[in-house]
Amino acid sequence: MNIKEAIEGRISARAFLDKKIPKETLNNLLETSRWAPSGTNTQPWKVIVATGLTKQKISDALLAAVNNKTKANSDYQYYPETWVEPFKSRRFQCGMDLYSALNIGRDDSEKRMEAGLNNFRFFGAPASLFFFIDKDMGKGSWVDMGMFIQTVMLAAREYNLASCPQASVADYPDIIREETSVSNQYHLICGLSLGYPDESKPVNQYRTKRDDVDSFTTWLD
Ligand SMILES: Cc1cc2nc3c(=O)[nH]c(=O)nc-3n(C[C@H](O)[C@H](O)[C@H](O)COP(=O)(O)O)c2cc1C
Repeated sequence: MNIKEAIEGRISARAFLDKKIPKETLNNLLETSRWAPSGTNTQPWKVIVATGLTKQKISDALLAAVNNKTKANSDYQYYPETWVEPFKSRRFQCGMDLYSALNIGRDDSEKRMEAGLNNFRFFGAPASLFFFIDKDMGKGSWVDMGMFIQTVMLAAREYNLASCPQASVADYPDIIREETSVSNQYHLICGLSLGYPDESKPVNQYRTKRDDVDSFTTWLD
């Protein structure tokens, strides 16, 4: 697969086939991804790959936390407290497109809630990755992490794997740390559901939109 196809064909997949990913494939994926760049080559990534029983235990613990109404306590603030334009509208559109693909009506809060809970089931993916960073690293290293995570998502395409990055699971970093035996020296950035996509599901068939190049680019001669 060429790079253009990998980038333009990547989507956030939210339905997966019940098919294991060979350990060798997961290893090859990370072998490739470790070539991502990082400032002064610090390579600040720490990755947990959860499959099988471990993944199930994490999922159970996350679902229990949500059901018990455990307060989210993310290690960092991903989104602004107050949404302003144009981000507010884009975020709204993102939700509308997703619920429409899932055939969930605007006012059906119960089904929306259920769809949200699928995050904590990793959308049925056979593997769930968790990306951590040493809490003593600076903002620049978070930039490195973004590049690393995108590299994983693109490299996954080479193996016919699809993914969904998930900030939702980072709402409960203590649970993930506990279940994966990661010390609180590390901050949880996000999770990534990974597996073979179920192409028959409409949720994997719609495409999110992007603004035109000229809307975000200034050309200076
Ligand atoms: C860091 C990050 C966290 C995300 N968290 C979630 C999440 O928790 N649940 C989810 O369903 N999608 C999540 N997404 C997926 C975005 O909604 C998606 O990338 C966006 O709508 C663009 O769609 P595309 O990835 O299909 O191109 C996340 C994306 C990123 C980059």
